[in-house]
Amino acid sequence: MAAVRRLEGRVALITGAARGLGECTARLFAEHGAKVVIADVNDDLGEAVSKSIPDSTYVHCDVTKEEDVQNAVDTAVSKYGKLDIMFNNAGLGDYNKDCILDNELSDFVKVVSVNLTGVFLGTKHAARVMIPARRGNIINTASVCSITGGLSSHAYTSSKHGVLGLTKNTAVELGRHGIRVNCVSPYVVATPMAKGFFRLTDEEVHNIYNPLKGAKIEPQDFAEAALFLASDESKFVNGHNLVADGGYTISNYGFTIFKQ
Ligand SMILES: NC(=O)c1ccc[n+]([C@@H]2O[C@H](COP(=O)([O-])OP(=O)(O)OC[C@H]3O[C@@H](n4cnc5c(N)ncnc54)[C@H](O)[C@@H]3O)[C@@H](O)[C@H]2O)c1
Repeated sequence: MAAVRRLEGRVALITGAARGLGECTARLFAEHGAKVVIADVNDDLGEAVSKSIPDSTYVHCDVTKEEDVQNAVDTAVSKYGKLDIMFNNAGLGDYNKDCILDNELSDFVKVVSVNLTGVFLGTKHAARVMIPARRGNIINTASVCSITGGLSSHAYTSSKHGVLGLTKNTAVELGRHGIRVNCVSPYVVATPMAKGFFRLTDEEVHNIYNPLKGAKIEPQDFAEAALFLASDESKFVNGHNLVADGGYTISNYGFTIFKQ
């Protein structure tokens, strides 16, 4: 158990929490005293994760379906009385085809609908219950692909740039109601999605270029970034993109004045 519980009594809904970064964050939020609603399309994994976390609930939720998102938010409120934190984390990667001519419209639409439309729906329905409460905290999972090009497919990069834009726009609107909206942008970390997406083994993911020497990239790093945004320690942070990438996106490491 965490020595200082930073989310005591809070209610958090996390999409895509059946595995990967969402699962890791659900466990960390619960350690910090939050009641957690795990929302995912993978019912077997989601139920199993929920069983292993005290004070948590699983709800089936496809983030591309408005009625599912509405139901997930309503489940949090009916079960725990309120919704303090909405973490729009569910995401989908796709293996890039080398040429845009080989990219199918249906694949593009599929990725954008989970990664961006899903965040829109999650934000909309969280706002529905947070506006009357005049407080709330929305966190979205973007990616280093929200501010760079060439690291992933056109669909994925577009969707994550969109998540950043939506984060800023909704932060401006919802800030008027005392609701903060921020996003966290992870670098490549060995989750099932990243390995499938880049077609890499665990070892290859661990060997991906990391400019912060000695630091091992772990899911916990992104969960801790989300915890900061979810907690009162960040109470004046709004519309921010918290990039957790060891400095990967701040320089051209192939051409700097500092020897690498
Ligand atoms: N792993 C990385 O390297 C990395 C880097 C940057 C950003 N991200 C982002 O982090 C987030 C989590 O990714 P991850 O690496 O943990 O992937 P993951 O595949 O391990 O987990 C994603 C979860 O989302 C769920 N999901 C997929 N489609 C859904 C839908 N329509 N509705 C509800 N749930 C759905 C999956 O069932 C799964 O449980 C994603 O938004 C991803 O884009 C990951």
